Amino acid sequence: MKAIEVVNLVKTYGAGETAVHALKGVDLDVFESELLLLLGASGSGKTTLISIVGGILSATSGNCVIRGREIVGLPQSKLPKIRLENIGFIFQGFNLFPALTTQENVEIALDLKGVRGGKAKKRAAELLERVGLKEKLKTFPADLSGGQKQRVAIARALAGEPPIILADEPTAALDSESGRLIMDLLQELAHEQNRAIVVVTHDNRIFDYADRIVKIEDGRISKDESNEQTDAATWMAVPSASVNIPQTA
Ligand SMILES: Nc1ncnc2c1ncn2[C@@H]1O[C@H](COP(=O)(O)OP(=O)(O)OP(=O)(O)O)[C@@H](O)[C@H]1O
Ligand SMILES: [Mg+2]
Repeated sequence: MKAIEVVNLVKTYGAGETAVHALKGVDLDVFESELLLLLGASGSGKTTLISIVGGILSATSGNCVIRGREIVGLPQSKLPKIRLENIGFIFQGFNLFPALTTQENVEIALDLKGVRGGKAKKRAAELLERVGLKEKLKTFPADLSGGQKQRVAIARALAGEPPIILADEPTAALDSESGRLIMDLLQELAHEQNRAIVVVTHDNRIFDYADRIVKIEDGRISKDESNEQTDAATWMAVPSASVNIPQTA
C-alpha cells in the first residue's frame, strides 16, 4: 500500500526577483515496508520535500497524499493531528532537551499523544529498550555518544507508533559503527513493522540499506531506482524502476 503519494509538488520560497524555486514538480510514491534513501546535493530540495510531506511546511502547488489523506491545501490547523497520527521525524541535530534524561525526553513526545504519568514512564522505558538504551534511562544527553543521542531521537519519533518515519541525515554525524546500528534499526522498522521510511542522506556508507534510492537534482527527481533486494511486487507500480544501484551519490 502507498504510504506517501507526491504529485507534481512545487515549492517556491519568496516571490518575484528573489524567489527560490526549491521544488519544481516532484512526483514520488513511497510504499509501506519500504526504506527509501533520498539523495541529492546541498540545496537540491531534500529537506523542503520531507518537510512538506511531514506537514511542517506548506507547498506552493501540487498534491501530497499521506495514507489516503490529501494534505496540500488543508488549513494549517488540521495538520498537527495528521502529523501526530502518521509521521515520526528524526532530525540530524537530535533536538534533545539537555536538562532532561533520555527517559524524560521520550516522555515529552508521549505527552503530545496524551500519554502521561506512570504510563508514559513505562512506555518511554519500553521504547528506549527497543533502541538498545535500556541502561541509559536516567542519563542526560551530554553523557551520551552521538549514536546514542540519535537512538533517543528515534525512540522519540516512535512514541506515536507512526506508520511513516522521515529522517534527515540521521547518520551524518556518526562513526560507521553507530551509523550502521541506526540503519539496522530503521530497516527493521520498515521490514518487520511495515513502516514507510524515508532517509535523506549524503552518506554512501549506508546505501546498501536502501530498498530504493531516489535522487533529487535542482528541485526535480532525476533518478528513481530499486535496490537489488527490493520486493518485485512493490515495484510493479513504479514505471521508472530498474534493478541497478546508482553509482553516484
Ligand atoms: N526558508 C527558506 N527560505 C528561502 N529559501 C529557502 C528556505 N529553505 C530552503 N531554501 C532554499 O531552497 C533550496 C532547497 O533547500 P533545502 O533545504 O530543501 O535543500 P537540501 O537538499 O535539504 O540541502 P542540504 O543538503 O544542504 O540540507 C535551497 O536553494 C535553499 O537555499
Ligand atoms: Mg537539508
